[in-house]
Amino acid sequence: MTAWYVLSAFALIIIATGSLYWVLVNGMYREDVHDLRDNLENASLLLSASSGQHGVSFPFATPRARGQRPDIYLRVLDSNGQVLIETPGLSRRLPTPSKTELAAIPSGGGASHQILSRQGEPFLTLIAPIAGSQPRFLEVAMDRAHDEFLLARYRERLWLVLGASLVLCAVVGYLIARSGMRPIKGISRTAERIRATTLHERIATGGLPEELRGLAETFNGMLDRLEQSFAHISQFSDDVAHELRTPINNLRGEIEVALGKVRSAEEYRDVLGSCFEECTRVARLIRTLLFLARADTAADALQREPVDLSEELAKVVEFYEADAGERGVELRVVGASGVRAELDRTLFQQAIGNLISNAVAHTPSGGSVELAARASGQNIRVTVTDTGCGIAPEHLPHVFERFYRIEQSRTGSQQNAGLGLAVVKSIVNRHGGRVEIDSRVGEGTRVELIVPSSGATAPAELTKS
Ligand SMILES: Nc1ncnc2c1ncn2[C@@H]1O[C@H](COP(=O)(O)OP(=O)(O)OP(=O)(O)O)[C@@H](O)[C@H]1O
Ligand SMILES: [Mg+2]
Repeated sequence: MTAWYVLSAFALIIIATGSLYWVLVNGMYREDVHDLRDNLENASLLLSASSGQHGVSFPFATPRARGQRPDIYLRVLDSNGQVLIETPGLSRRLPTPSKTELAAIPSGGGASHQILSRQGEPFLTLIAPIAGSQPRFLEVAMDRAHDEFLLARYRERLWLVLGASLVLCAVVGYLIARSGMRPIKGISRTAERIRATTLHERIATGGLPEELRGLAETFNGMLDRLEQSFAHISQFSDDVAHELRTPINNLRGEIEVALGKVRSAEEYRDVLGSCFEECTRVARLIRTLLFLARADTAADALQREPVDLSEELAKVVEFYEADAGERGVELRVVGASGVRAELDRTLFQQAIGNLISNAVAHTPSGGSVELAARASGQNIRVTVTDTGCGIAPEHLPHVFERFYRIEQSRTGSQQNAGLGLAVVKSIVNRHGGRVEIDSRVGEGTRVELIVPSSGATAPAELTKS
């Protein structure tokens, strides 16, 4: 930052001083040319007014002098380049123009020339013909040594000023960069301090300049989300430990009791059978947890394939028909024909299966569970509606949370982990869709899955759940 500041500020200073110097040099040169032309015109008037050799001595005898030497020199030449008269010392300094050079000069006078004298001094010369009977030329020369001397001194000072401003730019640039970086250092110190245990820390946005406040707020927002996720993960780990502890304790208890004394083969078989059931339950729980963990990190890609919804729903229904029949619940699919979508078949079946299993479990005998599917714009909507006990409004927002069970006793079993709807939500989210639930206590529950019908379409807005 300092380097950029120094470079840009110094470049601007160089451009500014350079252009001022250029204006000065040009201005001095133009002034000199103007001066020279004035002198030429005056001397020319005097010369053309004078007729004889004596009359022309006036401008040469009293040259305008500055310092030691005259600044302006004059000489009169004939058309062959022979000097007729001149300011003393001019021929020693400047060579006379040749005959051809004089012949090329237009009647109104030539352009000014910059030449170096024999001694290396800069001169500016101007030649014009003098009106009269004989062809004569008047040459006016200006010694620009004094100008050059002034410019050289100006350049010397300029270098000094440039050197000083370079140092000044560096110091000011460093101070500006340092004060600009101070709040960023503060932010990075806070960021360094933050660990998993100190996720509650936030960057103080009070004293920050406007440009950095946005950054700090974004960073704080990120910390909010991280803190929430950490709390969520830690709660989830607690729940997992708790869920696994119960069946393992059961297993231990049963085995301990069985080992307490010698038992018959029949009794051992019973204990082993019950242990097997418990193990199956734990294995299923672990499988579901693994599924959810993988879905969280999106490690597995979806295996999308074209699916006919009516066929797919019929297959899942067939699987649950026996169970529903046993409970006296009617299970049916309505109006799903012709609805097609690109879905991961296995995951979709699992989601619908979880919904049917919930609906059947919560619907009393004589009730019904109805499945329907329809296309709606870019999405398909699949609904599972039951005429069961319903869910109270205070529970409704939580049913998709992991391990959330309304009443352990209501479903009549500890077999349920409270993960079914969490899995449904995760599957639908992975398809880029959303879940909506609507329930009335005593009337029934309706769960709707809204999923984009192809993987290429934009995801359904994830507003609810
Ligand atoms: N159709 C429904 N009618 C009434 N209550 C329901 C219905 N579906 C779910 N619930 C309630 O929502 C809670 C969460 O359901 P979820 O499917 O996530 O868990 P679960 O069925 O208890 O366990 P799991 O599905 O993991 O075996 C359940 O405890 C249940 O009480
Ligand atoms: Mg369930």
